[in-house]
Order: sequence, then structure tokens, then C-alpha cells
Amino acid sequence: MKDTYRIAVVHGDGIGPEVCGATVEVLKAALGPANALRFDEYPAGAEHFLKTGQSFPEPTFKACREADAILHGAGGLPGVVHPDGTEAGLDFTLKLRFELDLYANIRPIRLFEGVQSPLAGMKAGDIDYIILRENSEGLYAARGSGALLRGEVAVDTLVQTRTGIERIVRKAFELARQSKGAPRDGMRRVTCCDKANVLRSYAFFRSVFDDVAKDYPDIATEYALVDAMAMHLVLKPGHFNVIVSENMFGDILSDLAAATVGGMGMAPSAEIGEHNGFFQAAHGSAPDIAGKGIANPYGTILSAASMLDWLGHKHGDARLNEAADRIRTVTESCLAGGLLSADLKGKSSTREITQAVCERLADKA
Ligand code: IPM
Ligand code: MN
Repeated sequence: MKDTYRIAVVHGDGIGPEVCGATVEVLKAALGPANALRFDEYPAGAEHFLKTGQSFPEPTFKACREADAILHGAGGLPGVVHPDGTEAGLDFTLKLRFELDLYANIRPIRLFEGVQSPLAGMKAGDIDYIILRENSEGLYAARGSGALLRGEVAVDTLVQTRTGIERIVRKAFELARQSKGAPRDGMRRVTCCDKANVLRSYAFFRSVFDDVAKDYPDIATEYALVDAMAMHLVLKPGHFNVIVSENMFGDILSDLAAATVGGMGMAPSAEIGEHNGFFQAAHGSAPDIAGKGIANPYGTILSAASMLDWLGHKHGDARLNEAADRIRTVTESCLAGGLLSADLKGKSSTREITQAVCERLADKA
């Protein structure tokens, strides 16, 4: 337990400052006068790149590495690119993942009361699973190192190592063990999502999955090819408990899954390694709605609740875990009470939602 936990806050681009600012207020309200968090803000992102030529300044990186946790709004703007055509505003997220070895990207997908799913007949609790995305290798390993040959042939290499697969699969089984199981049948189940029928690296992923699964005889296992998985997430989402996949597949499935529970605004994430934790919603910077005050802050707020849980467990500090529980309870009650942003077919502004969450937290403190 520490007296003070240093949170490196990077607002980023587009709606980033709106959802991140809202979340810092919510964290302060959740912890009350005994606030044990210190928020230090640092620059990074596409806007900063336009101003200074640097997307992720070294002092920001050092501060993030040394902080107790990192909180981010969102990064990137279309058209703000490196000479190779890739987006500069994504450097922050991607460099943190690789340099701090944040190998586990935990993405809970849950349908809350008050939020309408586009899938017919789905009600709160019917969808409740985790996409566990491998976050340090896979196809993303090629970021910054792809090759373009003579302007004719472009190559990005997909990398999967035994160490990398083992640790993410192990994490999947641990998460399943701590969970309540799949909504439909209560089974604790890990689904290995790959493309083992076509590519060697995915066949390898599956074989390492089989090796690790032997240590968890209490957890059901199954395989799903990623293309079929896209269909299953629409047709039978209640079947799933924990899904583990390679980096790029996890990225794509995350957005599909988010759509089934109200959209990207409802998709939190926690990116975790041995030492560092990085928390941001799974959505992007949504420049089309930036500055209008209508962005959905729930994804970032729920990511911050995961941050408190991670810090609380790491440092044996129950105050933080209790605050995380309060944030989740209040978030649920706000959603159920109709405090919905435009993306959720509601009329509440970011400010209204933030104020309501903070007021209800103050009542509970
Ligand atoms: C995500 C995002 C990121 C990714 C971007 C911002 C680099 O889409 O976290 O899912 O592609 O992984
Ligand atoms: Mn994504």
C-alpha cells in the first residue's frame, strides 16, 4: 500500500480530452477526500505531432514508465501520418504496448441494463464475456518495421512466440477461473480463436493453447476459427466466457463485440504487463464528434475502474478496490436510469453524465 499513486494522464486527440477529463473527475469523486491518486498530465498524440513534430516525447514516455498507472483518452487523427503512411497519433499506444511489454489486453464485453443491443431479444446480462487480446506480438509486431520493396511489394511479418502465446493463454484461463462463467450455461470456458486451418503461426498458437490447457482441467475449452467467430459473436454471444486471440484478430473482434453491447463507447480495456498498467477505452478519437460535448465517457470510466482494481490488487490496497466497485455500481445505475449519450440513442451530454456519476459517487463516499 502506498500513500500516493502517481497516474500519468495523457488526454490525446479528438474526444480524448473530453472522456479523459470526465474520468479524472469521476476518479476523484470515487475516492473522496482521501484521494490517494495524483494526476500528472503529459502531452502525446497527433495534435502534439502537428505542433512539435513529436508524437510521443521522451519525457512523456519516461513519466509513463515510472508512473503507477497510465490513463489515456484516445489518440490519432486521420491524415496525420508518418512518411510510411501510418498514423503518428497511434505511436503513444503502440510504443507503450511494446516497450512496457503490456502483453495482456483485457476487454470486457457486457450488455448493461438501459443499453439496447442491436441483436434482437438481448437483455442485460445476456452478453458478458472477455476478449483477451495478445497485445505485444502477432501482426502488430511489424509496426514500424514493415518493408516496401521497390514500390511494388509490401511485407509485414506476423510473429508468434511460445513465450508470448503461453503467457496470454495462461492469463485467459486465470480470468476464466475468476469469472462467473458464460451467461447461457454458467460454464467457465476459454475459446481459442485463431486461423489454424490456414496459417502455421495460428496452428502453433493452438498447439501451445492445448499445452497450457492441461494445467486447467476445471475450465472447458474449445476452438473457433476467427471468421466463424465473427458470426458466433452475433448469433450466440451468450455462449462465450473468455476468448483468447492473436493481436490483430483481437483488435477486429473487439469492435464487432462492442457493437453488440451498444458500440465503441461501451468498450473499456486494460492493457497489462508484469510491471505496468495502461488504461483507455477501446475506441478511437472520433474527430467527427470532438468538441461537441456529446462523447460517451462510460468506456473510459469503466477502464479507470479496472485501473483501480489493478492498482488495489497489486499494492494490497482495498480502498482502491472498493472505489472501483463504487464506480461500477454507479455506472450501472446511471445507465439503467437513462443517462445515455447520443451514440446510445440518448440525449445526455458528456458533462451531464459525468456530473450525475460524480454526484452519485459523492452520496456513496
Ligand atoms: C485499439 C485501437 C488501437 C489498435 C490503435 C489506437 C493503435 O484500435 O486499441 O483497439 O489498433 O490496437
Ligand atoms: Mn481497435
